[in-house]
Amino acid sequence: MPGHLPAPRTLDPSTAPSLGWGIMGPGWIAQRFVGALHKHTGQRVVAVGSRSADRADEFARRMGIPSARAGYAALLDDPDVDIVYVSTPHPQHHRCALDAIAAGKHVLIEKPAGINAAQAREVFAAARAAEVFAGEAMWTRFLPKFDVIRQLLDDGALGTLRTVAADHGEYFTAAHRIYDPALAGGPMLDLGTYPVAFAQWALGEVHTVSAIGVGANHELNGQIAAALGHRDGGQSLVSTTILADTPTTASVAGEDGYLELAGPFYQPGPFRLVPRTGEPLIHEEEPASHEDGLHFSAADAARRIADGAVDSAIHPAADVVATLEVMDRIRAETGIVFPGE
Ligand SMILES: NC(=O)c1ccc[n+]([C@@H]2O[C@H](COP(=O)([O-])OP(=O)(O)OC[C@H]3O[C@@H](n4cnc5c(N)ncnc54)[C@H](OP(=O)(O)O)[C@@H]3O)[C@@H](O)[C@H]2O)c1
Repeated sequence: MPGHLPAPRTLDPSTAPSLGWGIMGPGWIAQRFVGALHKHTGQRVVAVGSRSADRADEFARRMGIPSARAGYAALLDDPDVDIVYVSTPHPQHHRCALDAIAAGKHVLIEKPAGINAAQAREVFAAARAAEVFAGEAMWTRFLPKFDVIRQLLDDGALGTLRTVAADHGEYFTAAHRIYDPALAGGPMLDLGTYPVAFAQWALGEVHTVSAIGVGANHELNGQIAAALGHRDGGQSLVSTTILADTPTTASVAGEDGYLELAGPFYQPGPFRLVPRTGEPLIHEEEPASHEDGLHFSAADAARRIADGAVDSAIHPAADVVATLEVMDRIRAETGIVFPGE
């Protein structure tokens, strides 16, 4: 058991090579992403594209972006755009990313990279063929605290890993897009991505899936609980709901101790390492939200692109696809089918 926690190896996002970013789909997360880039990096947000000229103009004015484009095709025609941040709803990610790649742009796609594993595989294959970068903006994975946890797990600080528990529940009213079946609504893709990706990142490949679900109404899933069996005998319990706010905590336990991540576990904040014998160690970190966290994945993309890489080393294409494969299996068990599948 270590006497102190390791320092994060995360590189300073403000020193990443500067790219020209084009925002595709100026909604809730896009505002926070642009805010994070402006606040914490030297990245240049050069253009925004919206399906509506008025919305593009309004977002550009509000966020201090020099160019507003009417239509996503116009954004892709902009020679100042090196990389497109795809922040449209889930079912649009696939088409938007493929169009951007076909236009010779790098892409950073909001999570999840597609509504299913097949879509994500196609996007990553297209990026490889075109020799451009494609990444999923699973921001959690790039936060410094997750690098500290990665080192602890890799160094065997917890001994043989046995269990993970992770949940993400948030109450939404029916007016939110998360209630729209046409936009692949329900908790799985928006929220469930986090606990599933976390369990897989900590315990490795998933072999078995057992899941139950409850409807939010007659046409939409409202919550899911799943038990996952991982390689080497690890087990995880993951849950997600849009019907209630939950603690959104996570834990990883091994034979020599456990890690306890305060909620929201997927955002910047503290965690504790509690050894089976000895004193707990605390990772002190001020809790923070999107505007103080989304820039880490953007900086990683910029560095990888400068190195000529086609995906991230921290959150590689294989991990993105593996998480979507597990979500596909959870959906198969709970009867959730998205439009077009
Ligand atoms: N990393 C995170 O913490 C986080 C948090 C929230 C959401 N997200 C992800 O970000 C994505 C967007 O979520 P959001 O909450 O930002 O959604 P949102 O506020 O509804 O914004 C989505 C934008 O996409 C565009 N769009 C394109 N096709 C659309 C369609 N058919 N219907 C509705 N809008 C369409 C719209 O802009 P125009 O019509 O103006 O082009 C809209 O403003 C989701 O995939 C979600 O998982 C990530």
